[in-house]
Amino acid sequence: MAKKLYIKTYGCQMNAYDSERMADVLAPLGYVSVEEPDGADLVILNTCHIREKAAEKVFSELGRLKRLKAGGRSMILAVGGCVAQAEGEDILKRAPQVDLVFGPQTYHRLPELVARAERERGIGVLDIDIAPEPKFDHLPETGVRGPAAFIAVQEGCDRFCTYCVVPYTRGGEYCRPPDEVLKETRHLAETGTCEITLLGQNVNAWKSGDWGLGRLIRAVAATPGVRRVRYTTSHPAHVDEELIRAHAEEEKLMPYLHLPVQSGSDRILKAMNRGHDADDYRLLAHRLKQARPDLALSSDFIVGFPGETEADFQATLDLIDEAGFVLAYSFKFSPRPGTGAALLSGQVPEEVKSERLARLQAKLISIQHRWYEEMVGQSMDVLFDRPGRHAGQLLGRSPFMQPVHVKAPAELMGSIASVRITKGHANSLAGILAAA
Ligand code: 5AD
Ligand code: SF4
Repeated sequence: MAKKLYIKTYGCQMNAYDSERMADVLAPLGYVSVEEPDGADLVILNTCHIREKAAEKVFSELGRLKRLKAGGRSMILAVGGCVAQAEGEDILKRAPQVDLVFGPQTYHRLPELVARAERERGIGVLDIDIAPEPKFDHLPETGVRGPAAFIAVQEGCDRFCTYCVVPYTRGGEYCRPPDEVLKETRHLAETGTCEITLLGQNVNAWKSGDWGLGRLIRAVAATPGVRRVRYTTSHPAHVDEELIRAHAEEEKLMPYLHLPVQSGSDRILKAMNRGHDADDYRLLAHRLKQARPDLALSSDFIVGFPGETEADFQATLDLIDEAGFVLAYSFKFSPRPGTGAALLSGQVPEEVKSERLARLQAKLISIQHRWYEEMVGQSMDVLFDRPGRHAGQLLGRSPFMQPVHVKAPAELMGSIASVRITKGHANSLAGILAAA
């Protein structure tokens, strides 16, 4: 009999990818994914530890699930992901309703872990080893995905930005070999995927022998059936000539790039151990846009990093104007246990962080609105990858990752069509199919 699996995913796209892979690992045991935890046999919270609030959300969800568990069937409750890696044993202590805690590098062992959790109910199984052998060698073939899918090519990080937990929760950098990535690409393309996003915590640090990410992108793009390629998330210090050339020459590489800069102040960038200054970034943005003039750049920003003054913050606002971002995500600095920045003097008061975040976000929102409005009247290729909100509608992605709502026949699902944009909303576009 089919067993019901409910996975709730927090955090980044790598976590979203891991959740899909967990479902692949559990499918041979008869687990079928469901949309609600109610009545599920196995509930997995795939957690994120990047900022304080992320972990708090997990504990409040665990509170809700405790009531569900008390009221009903014999559900196994598991916590995976980055909070699991960082807090391990403490989760089992603080939330005794949890049966299993496992890390981002151990989910290939889920079948045996779940079996143990079932046998040893009430004890709490823990597996958060960062194994020397990569989990990728033990994962089954990727299941069928939609028209757009991720492939993890790189995981972990060796850069140690001083604010960041990733090197601790995900471990050191690991790159999958090109033949493995290309095999997964072929398999996805054969099963209906036409847009591939190469994924990594520091994806452009990917290398293998004399291959860099630029070469991998071209090889993925050359795979029959692949029509679009993207990569995320990248670091400015690892953008090399080969990658810039790929933006210039590889038409299937989409003209949207998330390239976080974090701050516009050289002093703060140094304290963050970013390995580049604001001018390096300006130059890089310029070179990328020369290579691909329609390239849309987005970024992440942290406000209130220890020692950040009003002048440092102003330098961030200035950089936003100069680099020409189309949108950006911004966060208040959150001291993470075990990271260097948590221990720095000059921690910025909460009210100052909130005030700067509000100013930054007001600016970013107006930039984003302007960008969405500029699209009106343009025609662009849209990949339809989901049903729309209303009957007779499909939802697709523009080359720049914008969601586009279009009245279109269901047969167009999974294909790319030319759409004329008729309206720009805050976070999406509306358009009509261009006459064939
Ligand atoms: N505090 C606030 N924001 C953070 N980020 C990473 N670590 C922290 C932290 N300690 C942000 C960065 C990163 C994004 C994924 O999260 O901007 O690019
Ligand atoms: Fe969150 Fe970072 Fe883990 Fe992704 S890798 S889930 S952003 S802590």
